[in-house]
Amino acid sequence: MSIFSGSASQKLAGKIAKELGLGLSPVEIFVFPDGEKRIRIQENVVGKDCIIVQSASIPPDENYMELFIMIDALKRSGAKSIKTVIPYLGYQRQDHVFRDGEAVSLEVIAEILTRVGMTELFSFDLHSPKIPEIFSVPVHHLSALPIFADKIKKEFDLKEIVLVSPDMGGIRRIKEMTEMLGNIPFATIEKNRDLTSGEINDSGLDGDVRDKTAVIVDDMISTGQTMAEAAQLLIENGAKKVFTFATHAVFAKDAGKLLQHSNIERVVVSDTIDIPAYNLFPKLEIISIVGVAASALKS
Ligand code: R5P
Repeated sequence: MSIFSGSASQKLAGKIAKELGLGLSPVEIFVFPDGEKRIRIQENVVGKDCIIVQSASIPPDENYMELFIMIDALKRSGAKSIKTVIPYLGYQRQDHVFRDGEAVSLEVIAEILTRVGMTELFSFDLHSPKIPEIFSVPVHHLSALPIFADKIKKEFDLKEIVLVSPDMGGIRRIKEMTEMLGNIPFATIEKNRDLTSGEINDSGLDGDVRDKTAVIVDDMISTGQTMAEAAQLLIENGAKKVFTFATHAVFAKDAGKLLQHSNIERVVVSDTIDIPAYNLFPKLEIISIVGVAASALKS
């Protein structure tokens, strides 16, 4: 088995390779002056099972394009199978048509990945449980939630906390978490987003958070607006403290600054995305999904 890393996931891929008892296999990624990339696999992969790790983090289009070409290079080099680990599957929020005239962008991504030769997909905490159905190859839908639940059990008094879904779309996720934590109470925020600008208009709270430590769980943090505004609403509704857990640290725009200056005590994320140094901030804590990814790849 050989494991390769795209340029977006060097850190994570290195850790997964180590956990599998392998080193990263060499790949040349040359960038032409106009930004085009030339990919060359630098080892013999004929008849081998190959793994590529590449998150579709910022910039998603560039990282996807690189991944498509890497898969093609492996296929043309004779790889037997190409297991693709896209820990953060970019475009997953565009999995259906919201308004007339829109594309289903995730279907376009799925179509290209399978056409170029991906044989299996491994990804974490997909925005919707229906996303695997879009792909015509096996999809391993992995999760950071059990790791988050273990951490919560160790570090919080379960009698003191209330879990919070920051929007109606996250209720399934929050129900899974409450079950992992012995059916502790949960609350839900009703978030209304403007479909054109993406801005959050207004939010309401369903559930009781008074005198509790609120723990918000979400699949991703992009601009940080959802978490920061949810924390503000929870404090206004009597929560003593607010902590957040999210699988994917997308961190667009000034997310780090916004979260650091918010009412949130601690922002816990996983390492599905390699977080660049300029996006680190004191309230941030990163926990690893490497063990989960490696054992899924082994089985
Ligand atoms: C939305 O449905 C997602 O679950 C996240 O809540 C959202 O994508 C976070 O985006 P942002 O950090 O920009 O508010």
